[in-house]
Amino acid sequence: MSLNDVALARLIIENVRSHGIIGLAPDGHITAWAAGAEAITGYSREDALGMNIADLFTPADQAAGMPQAEVQTALREGRAEDSRWHQRKDGSLFWGNGVTVDLGAGGLLAKIFRDETPAKHAEEQRVLLLNELNHRVKNTLATVQSIAEQGLRAAGVEKSVREGLSNRLIALSQAHNVLVTENWAGADLRTLICEVLAPYERDPSPIRMEGPPVRLHPSQAVSVSLACHELATNAAKYGALSTPDGRVAVDWNLAHNGEGQRFLTLLWRESGGPAVVPPTREGFGARLIRQTFAAEHGGRAHIQFPPEGAHCSLLLALMDEEPAEPGQPADPAPVPA
Ligand SMILES: Nc1ncnc2c1ncn2[C@@H]1O[C@H](COP(=O)(O)OP(=O)(O)O)[C@@H](O)[C@H]1O
Ligand SMILES: [Mg+2]
Repeated sequence: MSLNDVALARLIIENVRSHGIIGLAPDGHITAWAAGAEAITGYSREDALGMNIADLFTPADQAAGMPQAEVQTALREGRAEDSRWHQRKDGSLFWGNGVTVDLGAGGLLAKIFRDETPAKHAEEQRVLLLNELNHRVKNTLATVQSIAEQGLRAAGVEKSVREGLSNRLIALSQAHNVLVTENWAGADLRTLICEVLAPYERDPSPIRMEGPPVRLHPSQAVSVSLACHELATNAAKYGALSTPDGRVAVDWNLAHNGEGQRFLTLLWRESGGPAVVPPTREGFGARLIRQTFAAEHGGRAHIQFPPEGAHCSLLLALMDEEPAEPGQPADPAPVPA
């Protein structure tokens, strides 16, 4: 570095307010202190020169040897990432996110960090609210189930109807569980279907599933989950899952309409069960599937009853589009007419 470079570097370091920049000796003693570090921590340069970096750590992290570990890692590996609560001069905490780097000059180190306290608080608040919401939804579903069961029982409604309602609420709850596990970022289609079909699994499995990875928006996850629940209970009552030799194939794929909108097509096909007699009028389950999908953006459901086994095709415009990456394995086909 020329003298000019050094002067420029010094000028930058002195004037950066968004980051704290601290010079450290190998034992953690503070040897340099820029204005940004003062703005974040409240320690002036006079305070800081003479302190150890450990003084910025919380008592718990000091006791756990974190400051020393960070310096050692930086000396050994050239850099140590650091993202944790630190302590200001007035005792309050700030979330410091940064890195300690070995400057390669006889063990001199620099710790460069940013105060990300507001973002950390927002994230903590988000997690808190999410946990509370998950808890509430679960409780609400359980309460609805209990109110419905008691009310219907008191009204003398027969057991099969009560169970039908109860099982649909359980299907809702299962979809919710998958969403909770994935932090409401959406639900993986295969996981969702597996969850719904788990009670019908046996060895060897009567169910075959095939399709590319698909993430569903939370509201669509609930629709797909409910539809699969209706199809599975019907298959177990009247169709392929009511006999030992019956089979169910669930195949799905992605398609597009030429305007960048992606669609999910899902085909439920039963075979090997009792000969199917087409129903003369639409039952509750079929109506639920049809109406649920008609209400979805770009949604459509179609159930058929050929003698060899019931078929159901579901179509759904996927929400929350991510830009398709070139060369993706599942290059979607055009939407079937
Ligand atoms: N997988 C299936 N295999 C054979 N028949 C079926 C199947 N699913 C439905 N059905 C016929 O369609 C009718 C309507 O089903 P659904 O709409 O779910 O109403 P519900 O189950 O209350 O009877 C059933 O009563 C049955 O006759
Ligand atoms: Mg049914």
